[in-house]
Amino acid sequence: MKTIIEPFKIKSVEPINFTTREERENILIEAGYNPFMIKSEDIIIDLLTDSGTSAMSAKQWAGIMDGDESYAGSKSFFRFESKVKEITGKKFIIPTHQGRAAEKILFSILGGPGKYFPNNSHFDTTRANIEFTGAEAYDLLTEVGKHPEIRADFKGNMDVEALEKFIKEKGSENIPLVMLTVTNNSGGGQPVSMQNIKEVRKVCDKYGLPLFLDACRFAENAYFIKLREKGYENKSVKEIAQEMFSYADGATMSAKKDALVNIGGFLAMNDETLAMNARNLLIVTEGFPTYGGLAGRDLEAIAQGLEEVLQESYLQYRIKSTEYLGNKLLDAGVPILEPPGGHAIYLDAKRFTPDIPPHQFPGQSIVAALYLEGGVRSVEIGSVMFGKTDKATGEFIPPPMELVRLAIPRRVYTQSHIDYLAEVIIEVYKKRDKLKGFEIVYEAPMLRHFTAKFKPID
Ligand code: F0G
Repeated sequence: MKTIIEPFKIKSVEPINFTTREERENILIEAGYNPFMIKSEDIIIDLLTDSGTSAMSAKQWAGIMDGDESYAGSKSFFRFESKVKEITGKKFIIPTHQGRAAEKILFSILGGPGKYFPNNSHFDTTRANIEFTGAEAYDLLTEVGKHPEIRADFKGNMDVEALEKFIKEKGSENIPLVMLTVTNNSGGGQPVSMQNIKEVRKVCDKYGLPLFLDACRFAENAYFIKLREKGYENKSVKEIAQEMFSYADGATMSAKKDALVNIGGFLAMNDETLAMNARNLLIVTEGFPTYGGLAGRDLEAIAQGLEEVLQESYLQYRIKSTEYLGNKLLDAGVPILEPPGGHAIYLDAKRFTPDIPPHQFPGQSIVAALYLEGGVRSVEIGSVMFGKTDKATGEFIPPPMELVRLAIPRRVYTQSHIDYLAEVIIEVYKKRDKLKGFEIVYEAPMLRHFTAKFKPID
């Protein structure tokens, strides 16, 4: 087998600003060791997120020029709508400015006190939009998905038995919908199998509940099904994606991921009353239903991106290049969440720096070290993001996993960037005994990870 090469040539480039180790030392101190506080021009490889960071194609840029900016009835909307309908098979397509805007509209209508929303794993914004209405969000991830060191094909699956138990406990009348996040971002970018989607659908049918997909990374999920699930090896990824959506009544989408654009999203559904209510809210909060918080040109770019993301040469490159990084790290003994996910590699901080206890933020220590070593920006997904302090006892309650996410922007970095990245991570791993724990010197009352300031503990 020959090297899998990037399935594109580069027409437009963005220079990287190289910093020295000494400069990075000062930048880290100024940023309070928080990667969100570092200016992007001071980053060499930016893996903070795969969201809105994709490189667009020449055809997408052409679409930007061709965008119809009419307030109502824009031709760009109809192109967008027809592409989303073709993939999702849903009757009503509502554009939003990004994924969380679709969530906000959906849960404003269906949420409220006394309502419960199960998911394999809610993403933070999904959970926040549910909880903001007074409803409760529950993660029902399959057991194997909770163990970073275990390799399995579909660690993003929902625990179907737990779902049925949950519905019986809470009462189906209190559950407005069941959600499946494909791929499961909070659980390591792991895919959900078609079998699991079908089983969840069956339970939903039994209790008369709608099923929605959080479809941000639907194409990556569909490609994993093609690679790993029996019976799908000869189907096209588009057919697989269409089948995934066929079991759902609707979807929320952040186009900033698998539509290969820098901004955008949508809400798709079959229920006419729900769509009418959603459009009414859309007009108040986002915009008229044929642009929904976006410019006409953005809708063109999304339509074109949805076409390109399902090309198998693209998906092969995408999934294999993430795996390439994962395998390089595993070969060097670096502990990662296994197997490699679709959009990101997650370092397992608990095994990387076993001597730093959760309340001293082992993940944050690795994040800082990666920046210092090579100007790499990553993000902690562990005790900084999800750790809580018991109000009564003052005791620190860590989340189950301490991870560092290295999210890979789509079509942005080449194999030599990834080789450099692996060298940086492996170097930090070799010096892991020197890593220090951190303490927080400032934190905001909510979502502290964005603005917190830290200090190394001597
Ligand atoms: N759902 C999932 C699974 C996501 O990963 C995200 C965003 C959203 C919903 C919200 O979409 O950002 O367009 O409003 N994830 C980004 C990330 C921010 O870095 O993982 P959005």
